[in-house]
Amino acid sequence: MASWWERHGVPRLIKCACSQGQIMKVRSRVVPLARGHVLELGCGGGINMEFYRPGQIESFSGLDPSPELLAMSHAAAAERGIDADIRSGVGEAMPFESARFDTVVTTFTLCSVTDQAAVLAEIRRVLKPGGTALFLEHGSAPDAGVAKWQRRIEPIWKRIGGNCHLTRPIGDAYEKAGFAVDRQGAAYMPKTPRPFGWVEYGVAHSAG
Ligand SMILES: C[S@@+](CC[C@H](N)C(=O)[O-])C[C@H]1O[C@@H](n2cnc3c(N)ncnc32)[C@H](O)[C@@H]1O
Repeated sequence: MASWWERHGVPRLIKCACSQGQIMKVRSRVVPLARGHVLELGCGGGINMEFYRPGQIESFSGLDPSPELLAMSHAAAAERGIDADIRSGVGEAMPFESARFDTVVTTFTLCSVTDQAAVLAEIRRVLKPGGTALFLEHGSAPDAGVAKWQRRIEPIWKRIGGNCHLTRPIGDAYEKAGFAVDRQGAAYMPKTPRPFGWVEYGVAHSAG
């Protein structure tokens, strides 16, 4: 049974932290690249909905385990008149057949899943051969001093922040999972404490 904080505090914290101006700017570089049959994994909150280009999308599916955040996603899709198949579920065991999607989008999601490697394997499974995973994630910083603080803060932070980890690799994790990664950006977000602010984004190509 989820606690009061998990049901009410975490969704508001996520919505607020994940929609600040600099983050929205980076979302606007990544999300519009989605095309064809699209899955957004961890679609909770619906913050990306405004960045999809309806003209280049054949179908839109979403998956997220949080009922509160899913309600926001349904509302965001309805507001934009997007016919979306948004479901409750986790990335470690996706309720979709293999080779179903042209694009899988994850933004600030791989930090929060239970098993990052299992999720990346599932993303490869549901992508068509030659399909792409678009990612925008925060994680392990390249500077030793920042990384040390990330390791210190993470045990407490993940309990407050909906299982959000600070020390996970991003582009390297996609490569380890067998993707060819086109890194398009990596930087500390302005006005964000550095342990929380290292962000990487790009396109990961699945060979199938
Ligand atoms: C920090 S929020 C980011 C939400 C959204 N992706 C965004 O960019 O604003 C992390 C999201 O991952 C979802 N999540 C947590 N565990 C997950 C899992 N195992 N599989 C899929 N999504 C998960 C959470 O419910 C939440 O919606």
